[in-house]
Amino acid sequence: MILSPSLLSADFAHLADELTSLEAAGLTWLHLDVMDGAFVPNITFGPPLLHALRPMTDLFFDVHLMIEEPARYIADFRAAGADMMVIHAEADRHVQRTLAAIRDLGCKAGLALNPGTDVGCVRWLAKDLDMLLLMSVNPGFSGQAFIPATYEKIREARRVLDANGGSAVLIQVDGGVSPENTGRLVDAGAEVLVSGSAFFGHKPYGQRLAAFMEPLAGRVSRPEENALRHRRDSLDGGTLLC
Ligand code: DX5
Ligand code: ZN
Repeated sequence: MILSPSLLSADFAHLADELTSLEAAGLTWLHLDVMDGAFVPNITFGPPLLHALRPMTDLFFDVHLMIEEPARYIADFRAAGADMMVIHAEADRHVQRTLAAIRDLGCKAGLALNPGTDVGCVRWLAKDLDMLLLMSVNPGFSGQAFIPATYEKIREARRVLDANGGSAVLIQVDGGVSPENTGRLVDAGAEVLVSGSAFFGHKPYGQRLAAFMEPLAGRVSRPEENALRHRRDSLDGGTLLC
């Protein structure tokens, strides 16, 4: 399992310190929640924040775009340092085109589905994806309760991906993740877990990461997951990640 801590719950007054603490604790990914006040009822940050953080860290920037018509901004987010961009199926009329455009920028491409969105569309997109994000809360805010139907949705998504040429696609789950549900999520097939409020603020982060991993003792990761668990500097200067 790769833990991707959501910056939204970090201490915004001390972001440089937060990044240093994450890397020192052995974290390799950072989840960046971009919200536009239109697709979701909240506003966060845009490319300038990524641009400011990029020189400070080698964490893999996993950028969750909760914005309408994300194709308008993918070049800006790539230039600012995104390693993975995840767009919402509900926010883009031309999802396949945008996913291809993200890959053309040399970036990993992901698709996010809201809790009420069926996984059926993934059948037609499996080969266009590096990651499928299943939302386990309705997007917009951290600190919400996990939606239990997600467990079955993960199993269904894995079946659809594997049956349609997407066996290399990672499944990410975002919302209400904590050490209490990591075991069940990974057993269902989740490989990348996002955590905001249950991770940040619980220092030291090395100990908190261990609490998330503890229920997973003995589980073996797929090669696809292992290939993406590194920071960007650990694979040929980052080029293999993009
Ligand atoms: C919700 C965001 C999540 C959120 C997770 O819209 O996409 O990434 O920050 O926060 P927690 O882990 O507190 O649910
Ligand atoms: Zn998110």
